Amino acid sequence: MDRIRIQGGRALNGTIPISGAKNAALPLMIASLLTEEKLILDNVPRLADVGLLQYILGNHGVDIMVSGKRAGDEEHAGQTFELCAKNIVDTTAPYHLVSKMRASFWVIGPLLARMGQAKVSLPGGCAIGTRPVEFHLDALRALGAEIEIEEGYVITQAKGGLRGAKISFPKVSVGATHTALLAASLARGETLIENAACEPEVLDVANCLIAMGANIEGAGTPTIRIQGAQKLHGARHSVLPDRIETGTYAMAVAMTGGDVMLAGAREDLLTAALDVLRKTGTKIAVTNEGLRVSRNGAGIAPVDVTTEPFPGFPTDLQAQFMALMTRAKGTSRIRETIFENRFMHVQELARLGAKISLDGDVATVEGVERLKGAPVMATDLRASVSLVIGGLAAEGETTVHRVYHLDRGFERLEQKLVRCGALIERVSG
Ligand code: UD1
Repeated sequence: MDRIRIQGGRALNGTIPISGAKNAALPLMIASLLTEEKLILDNVPRLADVGLLQYILGNHGVDIMVSGKRAGDEEHAGQTFELCAKNIVDTTAPYHLVSKMRASFWVIGPLLARMGQAKVSLPGGCAIGTRPVEFHLDALRALGAEIEIEEGYVITQAKGGLRGAKISFPKVSVGATHTALLAASLARGETLIENAACEPEVLDVANCLIAMGANIEGAGTPTIRIQGAQKLHGARHSVLPDRIETGTYAMAVAMTGGDVMLAGAREDLLTAALDVLRKTGTKIAVTNEGLRVSRNGAGIAPVDVTTEPFPGFPTDLQAQFMALMTRAKGTSRIRETIFENRFMHVQELARLGAKISLDGDVATVEGVERLKGAPVMATDLRASVSLVIGGLAAEGETTVHRVYHLDRGFERLEQKLVRCGALIERVSG
């Protein structure tokens, strides 16, 4: 299994191109199931999760052509995907595929809306919490689906097709909002989604659906109104930049010091996290090229943070921010409100010398003078990159094991960091 080896202590200087957002690319690819015409997606990131979804969609009968530079090429432009779901040959998404990536459960909405039936494995548990799907199922039931759970599968049908309805979520869920949005686009009549997720990736998917002929208002706000269409058509859409990748590298620069241009990054996608970073003493300038992030010799100021749905501080940046706070000049409190078990990185950061104590959903981080390199283990996607950030600032060598978690969500991480002067390499085997 691959490992990442880091010699810490070097400042980051240079340019890091920001890739297309994983969390938008996945539901956008799934949206291709809604039409028999071709959906062209530009700026798709090269990630293990994208590759897995390609395989899953292929299983349903989606034809996918990929063009764009290959891994190892000089330029960091994203890939272009041409997806054509002319013939859906299978409406079953099996356990061995869905269990590998939770977001693949989201095929349920489009399959049901277009084919009137779907059989999709329940995604199962996950390292960061239980992550149930009852909001997805309630939304589909409201749209007229019959649902049974049998042997770990959700078996659903809508004999006369889906019909518009009012869906009011008890709690903000990104995935359930995607499910409702995708399914309602092909339902008869009007659907009103209340307490919808406002994440930029939801807006990106809605914009793509609009380009495909859907009639959607209010995406990006808590209330979305959809007039269902009988058919959707092909379209071309470019995946928005990844705000979590942007925030991650911004935190890496805040941690090591230096001056890095995050090319293609958009400030409006992560204002809460950038505000917090500014309070730590990091400089952030908005330019035509992207966001320029720098920190000179000044120390890192401690800042308290609570994770919230968008536009609040994202849970997907919590681990990275905790890594940064391990070197702050003082104590900070980090409260995780989205996932109940998203502190797996605490023990691993402690191996680098961090002082963190946990009390329920609050982590108290006492900044230390220095971190020291150590072997550590990645436990989930965002946790693994927090260990990279720790390793970049630690004295000596850090080895991050189980880096397949990183490959799920960070495109060419080592290459991007090496170009900015980091001593980081992938070791195979
Ligand atoms: C998405 C993101 C993930 C991010 C998360 C929260 C993708 C591919 N993944 O995950 O990176 O961390 O949003 O911003 O976009 N919940 C229920 N019942 C449900 C559905 C959700 O109780 O039926 C709960 C979850 O357990 C969690 C909260 O709602 O506590 C938010 O989860 P949700 O927004 O659904 O996360 P995902 O869509 O899975």
